[in-house]
Amino acid sequence: MLNTKHVTTSAPGKTILFGEHAVVYGKPAIAAAVDRRVYVKIEKREDNRTHVNVEELRVSGFLNLERGLIEFDNGEYEKKNILEYVLKSLIKTNTKDGLEVTINIDIPIGAGLGSSAAVTVATILSSSIYNNINLTRDEIAKQAHQVELEVQGAASPIDTTLSTHGGVIYLSKDAEEIITLDINTEIPIIIGYTSKRGNTGKLVETVKLKVEKYPQIMNPILNSMESITNHAREALVNGDQQKIGELMNINHGLLDSLGVNTEELSKMVYFARKTGALGSKITGAGGGGSIIAYCPGRVEEVISCINKFENAFKINISVEGVRLESKE
Ligand code: MEV
Repeated sequence: MLNTKHVTTSAPGKTILFGEHAVVYGKPAIAAAVDRRVYVKIEKREDNRTHVNVEELRVSGFLNLERGLIEFDNGEYEKKNILEYVLKSLIKTNTKDGLEVTINIDIPIGAGLGSSAAVTVATILSSSIYNNINLTRDEIAKQAHQVELEVQGAASPIDTTLSTHGGVIYLSKDAEEIITLDINTEIPIIIGYTSKRGNTGKLVETVKLKVEKYPQIMNPILNSMESITNHAREALVNGDQQKIGELMNINHGLLDSLGVNTEELSKMVYFARKTGALGSKITGAGGGGSIIAYCPGRVEEVISCINKFENAFKINISVEGVRLESKE
């Protein structure tokens, strides 16, 4: 058996186009992998200890894989839990101590773009290749979802599925089926994000309390979100630009009614529309984080408008899932 010296893999982030939050109640959602990726390099360390460095977060530490422990070198408190994903991913793939793991994240962090899922998915592929274990994409997605559940307590499989398989997916009711959508037209999407972070767990809880308090009001809203996602699936496949935009705007209004909108997100949503976006909405959990704006023919204008007060960039969607970058 040849010993692998180093392996680098990468996995993409994602954006939710339709159906966030409703998906927690078994409704369908549509999401796309985006062309911003995480890179995970694994190489041998001579002292038999395992060290991880997440460069963009300035977080690093030693992992004890046998005992499942982390000993941090440094890093801000709220960013440190990224090492939990790495630790659990390495343990899942039966990795033994003695590795240097270098992680580069080319995805805005804490913006709801799936950076922790991408770290998990790429770590699982890197360590399985390093250990000469053959995993199918479905197995990678399953293991990564388990890691997310272990770290977060609750998670839908959207992020890990997209990061593994890539493309644009329709996640059916109760996540029973994942359907890859065949989209032939370009979908020009801009992400606008604020430095304020949303806490997904807390936001999901806020919505839950509302649904429990006002079931007769909130359940029809969740049902409407389901209809929006189903109409959007058709509109995306048929390239019906007007309809895609209108559905995003309605979806945004309903997300606002769930209580996950913020002043910063609203400002980006309305300025994007004013500058010519056909539609714009919160993407992901809200409470900070990101919006998406659908802007055929108006990409530059919308980017420069949002960049005056927050951050915006164009994404290409429907990109390749997790992949091997290099190996020796
Ligand atoms: C967060 O990106 C999306 C939510 O629907 C939560 C989830 O699906 O796990 C808010």
